[in-house]
Amino acid sequence: MNNFPSVLESINDLTLDQVNGLLSLADKFHYRDLGLPFMDRRPIVATSFLENSTRTKHSFAIAIHKLGATYLDFNAETSSLKKGETLEETLLTLNCQGVDLCIIRTSVSNAFSDLKEKPPIKTINGGDGTNEHPTQALLDLFTIKSLGLGMEGKTMAIIGDCRHSRVGTSLRYLLPQFGIKVLMCGPKEFLPVDFEPNEYIQFTDDMDEAVAKADYFYLLRIQKERHQSADQKIYDDYAKNYGLDLEKLKKTKRPRPVLHPGPANVGVEIGLDLMHSPYYLGYEQVKHSTAMRMAIIQAMILNGDKNIGWIHGEKRLFS
Ligand code: CP
Repeated sequence: MNNFPSVLESINDLTLDQVNGLLSLADKFHYRDLGLPFMDRRPIVATSFLENSTRTKHSFAIAIHKLGATYLDFNAETSSLKKGETLEETLLTLNCQGVDLCIIRTSVSNAFSDLKEKPPIKTINGGDGTNEHPTQALLDLFTIKSLGLGMEGKTMAIIGDCRHSRVGTSLRYLLPQFGIKVLMCGPKEFLPVDFEPNEYIQFTDDMDEAVAKADYFYLLRIQKERHQSADQKIYDDYAKNYGLDLEKLKKTKRPRPVLHPGPANVGVEIGLDLMHSPYYLGYEQVKHSTAMRMAIIQAMILNGDKNIGWIHGEKRLFS
């Protein structure tokens, strides 16, 4: 894949051609058990999750195993990060130990921007604060395409805490490139403030409007851990005003598919009956995640970038 980036922080780091390349590579991985094409050595890929994760961490770990790469589970809690070492120093150290690529999750938004000019190691953003979660959006697109939900001219209603959701932001950047309109819905306090609506991206606090316009729903949990302060009433009223369960879905004139990136807060944004119904695609998203993450790892490992690590381009005094 031409010029695939060595630091994938944002959906905006990818061209439309590269996204299309990932979709077709993921398709091959999903239906056939393929490993990395021949390389003269087995690459080493690490994950470093500085925030909790079930889906992202393990689907990357499985993707690494399926590709035939060596997996290193870098434990931040027991690492020298806890002694004050910076992220960049840590990544340089991993690079010097022979690690090719590191997938990182952090609570710090935009933590990877400074790595792009001179990457200490190839890096994939596994979710950074409230900024982005590009691999989740890519696997969601792959799921939508694989299941034939339709793209051009369709509307996805993203309902929930859109302002603090990194998944919501990545979807907002990605889906319009495929002709999918995004209608973000939630209480006013949960709607983005940093973005002007346009033909493809609209905001509303009116759940009835979202239900009327949606071809499929994407529910987000309330990101309470990222709120500075909020009126308790918003939390108390959320399930009634914006939550979806099977009964509410069936009452709409045409029940439609419901996606969710997980983890879900059952009884708040989604009912358990809906999660256990055929309308719920959250488990399909998980099933499609490994193939897309295999595609992303392969594209980055094979991108031919030699400008990685501390000593690139530097004249060494001793060798
Ligand atoms: N969707 C997602 O990022 O889930 P985890 O937090 O479990 O990785």
